[in-house]
Amino acid sequence: MDPLDIIKQFYPHDTPLFHTLVNHSRAVAAKSLKIADTVSHLNPDREFIQAAAMLHDIGIFLTRAESIGCTGDKPYICHGYLGRQLLDSLALPAKYSLVCERHTGAGITKENIESNDLPLPSRDMVPQSLEEKIICVADKYHSKSPKQKNRLITTQQIIKDLGKINIDHAKRFSIWAKEFQL
Ligand SMILES: [Fe+2]
Repeated sequence: MDPLDIIKQFYPHDTPLFHTLVNHSRAVAAKSLKIADTVSHLNPDREFIQAAAMLHDIGIFLTRAESIGCTGDKPYICHGYLGRQLLDSLALPAKYSLVCERHTGAGITKENIESNDLPLPSRDMVPQSLEEKIICVADKYHSKSPKQKNRLITTQQIIKDLGKINIDHAKRFSIWAKEFQL
């Protein structure tokens, strides 16, 4: 399976959004593999990490995020579960689509979705597998925004930013960052 072939099914080749997505996804894949090196004793599936990291944001075109060229009609926070639907429609093994659904924030709990009335299906969307956690964490170090492209994002900054959204996000991320020596 070549993730680029799948991306090209939904993103016209050579458009700015295609390049934004592919550049970001490559950066996240590279960071994910570096993180995997820190837990090699747990035998992370590197081939799966590479492919799933390339596909984790495939749902963004269905959302509205004008700063990065997304002109869909759903709120940006929906891109995870929308990506899951896309990959499920292609009959990929569920482990790929679960990475999409579980990578936003530091995962999102059902309780968080319900208490904040988030526009998401009411179910737990928190990373469970080692590979899901690695890709979710790696994603936080790489922005898609053109303004932030060359900014070095530190672990402390990520924890601070996640804490502004929800303290539980910051707590989950902190535990994983420690585990991955970040
Ligand atoms: Fe991402």
